[in-house]
Amino acid sequence: MINEENVNLKDQYSFIAEIAPVYSKDRWAIRDKVKRELRPVIQNIPPKSKVLELGAGGGVIVSILEEAGFEVTGVDVVPEMVLEANKRGVQSVIHADGLALPFPENSFDVVMSWGNTLGPIPGEDNRHQMLKEARRVLKDDGLFFISVLNKGCSARRVIGPKEYTFHYSSRSDKWVSSKKGFNRFYGVGELKNVLKAAGFQRFRRLSPRCDASIVLIADGKKAGNQ
Ligand SMILES: C[S@@+](CC[C@H](N)C(=O)[O-])C[C@H]1O[C@@H](n2cnc3c(N)ncnc32)[C@H](O)[C@@H]1O
Repeated sequence: MINEENVNLKDQYSFIAEIAPVYSKDRWAIRDKVKRELRPVIQNIPPKSKVLELGAGGGVIVSILEEAGFEVTGVDVVPEMVLEANKRGVQSVIHADGLALPFPENSFDVVMSWGNTLGPIPGEDNRHQMLKEARRVLKDDGLFFISVLNKGCSARRVIGPKEYTFHYSSRSDKWVSSKKGFNRFYGVGELKNVLKAAGFQRFRRLSPRCDASIVLIADGKKAGNQ
């Protein structure tokens, strides 16, 4: 069983750099499906919103949001991923660290952490830091959209009930890497708790009850500030 403590940020970023071309190719190959998945999300975003995507990867989400008319910035900490986005014409994906965002507070109407960006970040403190940064750059009346892998409805539950972390490289023949990749699954209650700890409140679930992903909208308003 993978021990989270044994995978640090640097290792994880090297792992992501290795799989960047194949990962991005796979995401773009299913762009229409991703677009359908994003439909309920897009319906909840006010027109002309300024949107930030944390962990934009090969840029497929940014491209769909731009097509829908939003002003979008995507950030990714792995330069190889930024290159994948840029070479597909998505120039609004830039190199930046979600744990230390280069934007002032209250900059965005909407922040998204989509396609399981939070789960692969090793270390509870690092995941907390990313969520705190999301909250900091989000306007007080803004919305945060997050999708993570669903612990409750994962096949891993059957394979190993206690094991909700895994090495990507042991799971997918396609994402072959010499490095170990880390991932974390969430339950709905757990996800709400980590979001509350980062300053979000008032959650709405968009995904069906036993979907492979949990999708939540969180309100950016500070507690007691409604
Ligand atoms: C699972 S991929 C999702 C990509 C994209 N959102 C999508 O749905 O296609 C997660 C991405 O988050 C990026 N990432 C991981 N840690 C990050 C950090 N600290 N700051 C910014 N991006 C990060 C990874 O490099 C990777 O490209």
